[in-house]
Amino acid sequence: MESRKAPTGIIVVKLGGSTLGSHDTTLTDLVELQKRGRLTIVVHGGANVVTDWLGRLGVSTRFVNGLRVTDAETLKVVVAILAGLVNKELVAAIESLGGRAIGLSGIDGGLLGASIKDAQMGYVGEVVKVNPEPLQAILGAGFIPVVAPLSFQLPPDPGDNGFILNVNGDTAAGRIAAAIAAEELIFLTDVTGIYNTSGELIPQLSPQEAKTLLDSGVASGGMIPKIEACLLAAPTVHKTRIIDGRLPHALIKEVDGKMAGTTIA
Ligand SMILES: Nc1ncnc2c1ncn2[C@@H]1O[C@H](COP(=O)(O)OP(=O)(O)OP(=O)(O)O)[C@@H](O)[C@H]1O
Ligand SMILES: [Mg+2]
Repeated sequence: MESRKAPTGIIVVKLGGSTLGSHDTTLTDLVELQKRGRLTIVVHGGANVVTDWLGRLGVSTRFVNGLRVTDAETLKVVVAILAGLVNKELVAAIESLGGRAIGLSGIDGGLLGASIKDAQMGYVGEVVKVNPEPLQAILGAGFIPVVAPLSFQLPPDPGDNGFILNVNGDTAAGRIAAAIAAEELIFLTDVTGIYNTSGELIPQLSPQEAKTLLDSGVASGGMIPKIEACLLAAPTVHKTRIIDGRLPHALIKEVDGKMAGTTIA
């Protein structure tokens, strides 16, 4: 018989920057889940906030296949905004709603180790190592871990980036969900789910169908890392979902089995 890791009941939620701040019901839902005794890990994006601050600071930015080309100056802003502003605003909002949360980045406690993906992309890391201990400690102490998608560099190379790499939030969520054998991995984004060529929602995809979809080019931009993350999580995570985070109480509805969206399983 195939030996599968025992289900942990943990839910990993990726909060898309595209839906962050448009309403606060997701944070209310996180607090509600905590009151119900569900263990939840949050991984957030924030690409649009980073772009806004890069603009304010006069640092130009560009994307290749949904990933930001990150030079040393850009990386400093990415770290300040993701691990600073975005992360702390989320934690403060959860606490203000009566929840208990601790913010950390993938750097803290050695949570995420990554290697440079492609020299042309600059300080963008591909996650090669996950140490779930910091998350287990935070969950065990009764807090929701809120993770900013950054990593330490492997092999260590100080360069002018101080051993830090920028990682994609979707990939970070997928790798964390896989390492922790999460019950469910949920991507909250700004579309109903994955659309086919006719623009219709695809309710369910097998991993093989998801791969075919990626190769076909029907999924592009920010949807690519989400599908890839679902694929790498699929062997250990019971259920992976892409749902519309713009809808009020999408997260609670999802946990209660009342959301439309795309399942990759
Ligand atoms: N086949 C597809 N079906 C649905 N959306 C798609 C598809 N192909 C590309 N997309 C795009 O993917 C986007 C979602 O990814 P995006 O990276 O923009 O959001 P996010 O990950 O939720 O936010 P952030 O990256 O800021 O954290 C959609 O808004 C849509 O434009
Ligand atoms: Mg994205």
